[in-house]
Amino acid sequence: MSLGRNILRSGPRLIPSAWLLISTILILFGIATAVAQQPAFRNAPASAATDKNPYAGSASAAAAGKKLYAQNCAQCHGNNLQGLGPAPALDTPSVRKAKSGELFWFITTGKLSSGMPSWSSLPKAQRWQIVTFLESRPAVKTATK
Ligand code: HEC
Repeated sequence: MSLGRNILRSGPRLIPSAWLLISTILILFGIATAVAQQPAFRNAPASAATDKNPYAGSASAAAAGKKLYAQNCAQCHGNNLQGLGPAPALDTPSVRKAKSGELFWFITTGKLSSGMPSWSSLPKAQRWQIVTFLESRPAVKTATK
């Protein structure tokens, strides 16, 4: 059939231009998302930023997190998040601007080379409770009790 052969012959010419169009769209989309991206907290991977806190806004989770913070974090970061020695304050604008998932990621990963342990041994739920506690605190230092 001559009609069938014509369609078959035009096929290979159509396919490269479709690929060109698709790859152009993908490249433009890639540039747009790269431009829209905020710098990540502590170079957290992009996948961390989209991780949602299952306890966001929960007062009971924040209270549980407060206890866990006192047990695990206060000896370095201070009872009032004010920071002690090499451990920085955690009531800072940069911590407050960090996404929940980025804080969770940093707490889980740690940075042993500069003295921040990894908390991957704490159950996931407890790490999220600590994140909830940190997020429940005002970003500016409050008067010490
Ligand atoms: C042994 C001391 C120590 C303990 C315990 C500790 N940290 Fe840290 N933490 C550090 C040090 C030191 C740094 C700074 C590391 C760096 O900048 O690379 C840090 C950094 C951080 C940061 C990043 C702050 C910023 O502005 O970049 C967060 C968030 C944090 N710690 C949370 C926690 C939490 C939550 C706990 C408890 C589960 C905890 N840390 C326990 C020593 C400690």
